[in-house]
Amino acid sequence: MTDIQLPRAGIDKAQAYAELLPQIAAMVEGEPDPIANLANASAALYHGLAHVSWAGFYKVRGAELVLGPFQGRPACIRIGRGRGVCGTAWATGRPQIVPDVQAFPGHIACDSASRSEIVLPLRHAGEVVGVLDLDSAELAAFDRLDLEKLEPLADLLAPHLAAL
Ligand code: SME
Repeated sequence: MTDIQLPRAGIDKAQAYAELLPQIAAMVEGEPDPIANLANASAALYHGLAHVSWAGFYKVRGAELVLGPFQGRPACIRIGRGRGVCGTAWATGRPQIVPDVQAFPGHIACDSASRSEIVLPLRHAGEVVGVLDLDSAELAAFDRLDLEKLEPLADLLAPHLAAL
């Protein structure tokens, strides 16, 4: 069994990603269960990154995204294709970095404390199978660094999301 050790408080996000991501990769390598891996990955991101107030996955099911494993407040369960930040990431197949969610047309407010957001599409066998969504209570919390660090994680976890 691989236990994930959370980064200590007070380090910057580059260092936090550097500590977390190899541990998530090691966990996935040693554990085939998709629920266990996605649940622990969302917990590691939520508890390990100080700028994150919600972290989780949505899975494509038919014409909707449906809420998957996550950490944070209870969230919207179903999101239509092209709706909100998550539905836009699905429909366009492109990551979305939203510095101010109130300025994003159609943003779906699951948590009134959320101020900024990053959403990455997860692709498997040529299809977007869902998204990874991180929210922050701070404005403009996410930037290129988050995208660079999260893209390989999205690739690693996409087969697990596809298997849910
Ligand atoms: N704000 C998202 C909805 C999901 S929650 O943030 C967890 C959106 O606009 O797609």
